[in-house]
Amino acid sequence: MNTKELTNTVNLMLAGSKGLLAMDESTPTCNKRFEEVGIPQTIEYRRAYRELIVTTPGLGDCISGAILFDETIHQATKSGVLFIDVLKQADIIPGIKVDEGTTDFPGSPGEKITEGLDGLPRRLIKYYDMGARFAKWRAVIAIGPHIPTTECIEANMRKLAIYAAMCQEAGLVPIVEPEVLMDGPHDLKKCYDVTEKVLDILFENLAKQNVDLKAVILKPNMVLPGLNCPRQAGIDTVAEATVTCLLHSVPAEVPGIVFLSGGQSPEMATAHLNAMHVMYKDKLPWALTFSFARAIQAPALEKWKGKDENVPAAQQMLRHRACLNNAARRGEYTPNMENNMV
Ligand code: G3H
Repeated sequence: MNTKELTNTVNLMLAGSKGLLAMDESTPTCNKRFEEVGIPQTIEYRRAYRELIVTTPGLGDCISGAILFDETIHQATKSGVLFIDVLKQADIIPGIKVDEGTTDFPGSPGEKITEGLDGLPRRLIKYYDMGARFAKWRAVIAIGPHIPTTECIEANMRKLAIYAAMCQEAGLVPIVEPEVLMDGPHDLKKCYDVTEKVLDILFENLAKQNVDLKAVILKPNMVLPGLNCPRQAGIDTVAEATVTCLLHSVPAEVPGIVFLSGGQSPEMATAHLNAMHVMYKDKLPWALTFSFARAIQAPALEKWKGKDENVPAAQQMLRHRACLNNAARRGEYTPNMENNMV
C-alpha cells in the first residue's frame, strides 16, 4: 500500500471549503432523472449532459473531486477530449463508482445487498491506469417495520470493508457509503438508531479487514426523519442529531466525512451542512463536507432540458449550487444567497 500517495489524495479531496460532486448515476438512474424533466434517454444525451458538467467554467474552484460512472469515464467531449482529462485540467480529481448496484438480500424482503467484488482488483488497476484516484461503493439500508436486520447490515458492511482494503492496495482512496434511506414514515430517532448501528458495524469490519482509517472517506446520510414522517425536524435538530451520531461512531482518525443528499432538496441539504458548521465549529475531529448528486445537479438538469442553448445557464446554476455548499462548509451560508448568482 502506498500510504503517502493515498494521504496526498485524501488531502486534495478535502482541501479548503471544497467538496465532491457525485455524477456517478448508473444508466437506469440517469435515465430516470432525464425522464422526470423530459430529456431523451440515450447514450448521446447522457454524454452531452456529462460534458455540460465537466466543462462548467470555474467548477474546480468549488469541487475537489468528481465521482464518475463506468460509461462516463470512457467518454469524451464533442471535440474528443476525455472527460477524465478535462477534470484533471480543472484541478478536479477523477473518482469512480465501482459497485455494481444492488440485488435482493435473500430471505429478507425489502432488503438489498450490493454486488461487485468479483474481479474488482482487476477493475481497480484499470481505473487507476486511466487516472482515477478514488473510488466509491454504496450500500443501502432500508428502514421498515421489520428491517433493517442485523444480518443485512453485517453482510453489506463486510463487503464495504473488503472493497476498501482492495482500493487501498490499488492506490485508490475508498469512499465508503453506507446509506440509510429516507423512504418511509419513520421518525428522526429511528434514523439515528439505525445510522449509529450501521456505522458501528462498518467500523468494526474496517478494523477486522486492516483498512487504514487515515486513508478512508466516509459518505453517510444525514440523520433525518423519513420522507413520510408526519413530524419533520428543524434544521438545527437535524444538524445536532447528525453530528452527535457521527461523533459517537466515527473514529477521529478518519480524515473526512462527505454527505450524500439522499432526496433532500438542494436548499435543505445546504442548510443542514451549514448548521453543522455553525453549531460545531472547531469541535469536529474530521473534515465535514458534501458529495451531493441531486442536491448539486437538480437545478442545472432542469434548466438544461437537453437543449444546447441552455448549456451556459445550466452551468451557471451548477456552479452556483457548488459555491453555496462551499459557503455552508465554512458556516457562512444564508438562504438569501440562493438568489445572488455568482
Ligand atoms: O450514491 C449516491 C450519490 O453518490 C449521492 O447522491 O446526493 O443524490 O443522494 P444523492
